[in-house]
Amino acid sequence: MERRMLIAGNWKMNGLQKARKEVADLLALQGGKMPSMFDVLLCPPATLVADMVRDAGASGLAIGGQDCHHADHGAHTGDIAASMLKDAGAAYVIVGHSERRADHGESNAQVKAKAEAAIAAGLIAIVCVGETLAEREAGQAFDVVGKQVDGSLPEGADGQNCVLAYEPVWAIGTGKVATPEDIAAMHAHIRAKLEKAGGGILANARILYGGSVKPSNAEQIFALRDVDGGLIGGASLKAADFSAIIDASKSL
Ligand code: PGA
Repeated sequence: MERRMLIAGNWKMNGLQKARKEVADLLALQGGKMPSMFDVLLCPPATLVADMVRDAGASGLAIGGQDCHHADHGAHTGDIAASMLKDAGAAYVIVGHSERRADHGESNAQVKAKAEAAIAAGLIAIVCVGETLAEREAGQAFDVVGKQVDGSLPEGADGQNCVLAYEPVWAIGTGKVATPEDIAAMHAHIRAKLEKAGGGILANARILYGGSVKPSNAEQIFALRDVDGGLIGGASLKAADFSAIIDASKSL
C-alpha cells in the first residue's frame, strides 16, 4: 500500500491571534487548496485550534494539537483531553515530543497512554521518538529509539491512526540536521519494528523526520526511503517557509 506523505508543522508555544494571518497567507500561496497528493497539518497552541480549523475551512489543511492528557475528562487542572481537541475540530495530536519528555518528565508509558486516548477520541496520534546527543555519541541511538518505539506504541494503533516521528533531540531547533545516511538507517530501524509490532498492522504507518527541516533540505530528506514526510518546528511558523516546504515535496 502506498503511504501518503504528511507535512506537519509544530508551532510549539508560539502564536497569538495575529499569527492566524500565516494561515491565510499559506492558503493564498497554495492557491486556496492544499495539494491533493499528500496531507498537510499545522499544530498551533491549543488556544488557536478552533479558530484555525475555521480559517482552514475546506482547503484540506488539517489542524492538530501538540499534546493531550491520557484521561478523557476530570480533575486535571491545566490539561487538555483528546476529545476536547477533537471537539474543536482537530484531526491529529502530537504526543511524546522530546520537549514534553524533557520538560515534563513524560515516560514511554505516559506517551503510550496519551496516544491511546488520542486514538479513542478519533484523532491520529503522532508519536515522537528520538535520541539525545549524548546517547548518539555513546552509540546508543538505535537502542534508545527502539525502546521508545516499543514503549510508546499505543494499543489499537494501525497505519491510519498512528504516525511515528523520529526527531533526534540534538537536531531540534539547532540548525543541525542528521545526515541522510543516519536518517535512512534510523527510519529503517523503526520500520522493521513497526513491521513486527501488532501482527504487522503497523507495517505501513508513516514515519516522519523532524529536526531543522527547512525549504532548502526538505526535498532531499523526504526523498529518503522510509521517510514519509516531516514534523517541522521553526520553519512552519512563517507561511512562506512552510509553503516552500510543501512546494519542495510536490515533485516527490
Ligand atoms: P525544528 O523543530 O524544525 O524547529 O527543529 C522540530 C520539532 O521539534 O518538531
